[in-house]
Parts: sequence; structure tokens; C-alpha cells
Amino acid sequence: MKNILAIVRTALLLAPLLAFASEGGYRLDRAPNDPRDLVSLQSGARTYMNYCLGCHGMQYMRYDGLKEIGLTEAQVKDSLMFTGEKVGEPIRIAFNPKDAKAWFGVAPPDLSVIARSRGADWLYTYLRTFYRDPKTVTGWNNAAFPNVGMPHALWTLQGQRALEVEEKKEGGHTQVEYKWSEITKGTQTAAEYDATVRDLVNFLVYVSEPHGNSRRPIGIVVLFALGIVFVFALLLKKEYWKDVK
Ligand code: HEC
Repeated sequence: MKNILAIVRTALLLAPLLAFASEGGYRLDRAPNDPRDLVSLQSGARTYMNYCLGCHGMQYMRYDGLKEIGLTEAQVKDSLMFTGEKVGEPIRIAFNPKDAKAWFGVAPPDLSVIARSRGADWLYTYLRTFYRDPKTVTGWNNAAFPNVGMPHALWTLQGQRALEVEEKKEGGHTQVEYKWSEITKGTQTAAEYDATVRDLVNFLVYVSEPHGNSRRPIGIVVLFALGIVFVFALLLKKEYWKDVK
């Protein structure tokens, strides 16, 4: 028993350390996304179609799924579809994924469920922390995803930035400092760019979880139904045991 207690205590003591070690890297910003904000979802869908679809498909999302965020079929056709598909088809990139792999070294992944694997905060941080780096093939690097194979797709909006990483040794541990500076301005201000990325991440989260909005009420109904079943089960049990006792 003592041994077990000692193991549990050590595990508890180590737990915060392990979390720290596995987290590491760039500190993530919190994504201010709101899946019920349809205007934001529509703006995110537009940004996605204009700036991301060139390389990243969404095989689990159909164009007509976009009607669920308040867009009409005409809007989907006129302003979001550029590749001549039908609205019932999945959102695919125009070229062969093999070519993409040859160009970038890595195939751009499908982004249908990216918000589930990476999380909204990571995406929000990633899309705002690209910087110029002459040492990479694309000329771009990223603070949240070091040596990423993707160029900064939104650089005309954000502008070009540089990043200096300084490691300071204090006591036993090193502290990393990130210093951002502007090389050229983009067409958006920093606040506007943050809003663009917020909407885009909102859309990515929505696509990963398209029925999230309608799932919650269903969950409540299910719990309610289970409650009723429980009451009947209890009454039935009483009924059965009445004669036994
Ligand atoms: C020019 C092609 C290109 C464009 C345009 C592009 N990407 Fe990428 N993207 C890539 C490639 C290539 C990778 C793989 C990078 C790697 O693994 O090193 C990638 C990776 C990513 C990842 C990380 C996936 C992972 O491994 O977890 C995310 C998220 C992402 N892209 C989002 C976007 C978004 C959002 C846009 C639109 C604003 C966009 N990309 C536009 C080529 C592109």
C-alpha cells in the first residue's frame, strides 16, 4: 500500500512538469470564435475559398453544406465556387494532390477536421505568426509550426513580418523571447487581420463540427427521455418486488 501511495504521489508531483515539457514552444493565443455568429462564418468561408482552397480541400464538406450557415444557393455558386463543380459535391482542390506534394515537399492536408486535431487556439495562433525567413524553401516560417512547408497565404492582408527569437538563461531554465517587427504593411490593420483570422478559424471549427449547433438541444432531449425511462424503471421495479417482500 505504501508503495502505491508513493507512486501516486510522485506521479502527482511530476504531472505539472510533464505538461510543461510537452507544451513547450510558442504560447498560444485564445481564439475568440463563436460558432453561432453566421456573419463571421460566412466571412470565414469566403476567406477560405479565396485563399486556402487553392491547396487545401475539405472532402467531408459539400458546397451545399454552406447553405446551413445562411448562404443561398446563388451566393454559394456566385461568390464561393471557382472550380466549376456542382453544389452537391465535396469541396476539392483543383489540382492533383501528388503535384502539390512535388511542389511543397509535403502534400497540403485536407482541412475538414483540422480543428479537431489542432484546436481553435492553435489555428488562430498559427495563421497569425508567419514570418519572413530566407533560410526556408518558401521564404516563410512560422512561430507555432517551425519550418512549416506552407507559405503565408494571407500575407497581402497581414503584411510581412520578421521574428527574432532570443533564448535567455535564467537560473536553471531557459526563457525564450519572441520579438516581432514589421517589414511591409498589409492591406489590413492588425485588428482587422485578427478579425479575418477569427472568422476563418470560426469556419474551420464549424466545418469540423457542422452539426455542433443542433447537437446540443438533441443531447438535452436525450437526457430528458432517459430521465423518464428511469422513473418508469423505478416504478416497475417496485411493482415487481412488491410481492416478493
Ligand atoms: C500554396 C499552397 C497553400 C495555401 C494557399 C495554403 N496552404 Fe496551408 N499548407 C500547405 C502545405 C504544403 C502544408 C503542409 C505543411 C507542412 O506539413 O509542413 C500546409 C499546412 C497547413 C496547416 C497545418 C496542418 C497540420 O499539419 O496540422 C494548416 C492549419 C493550414 N495549412 C491552413 C491553411 C489555411 C487556413 C489556408 C488559407 C488561409 C492555407 N493553409 C493556405 C499549403 C498551402
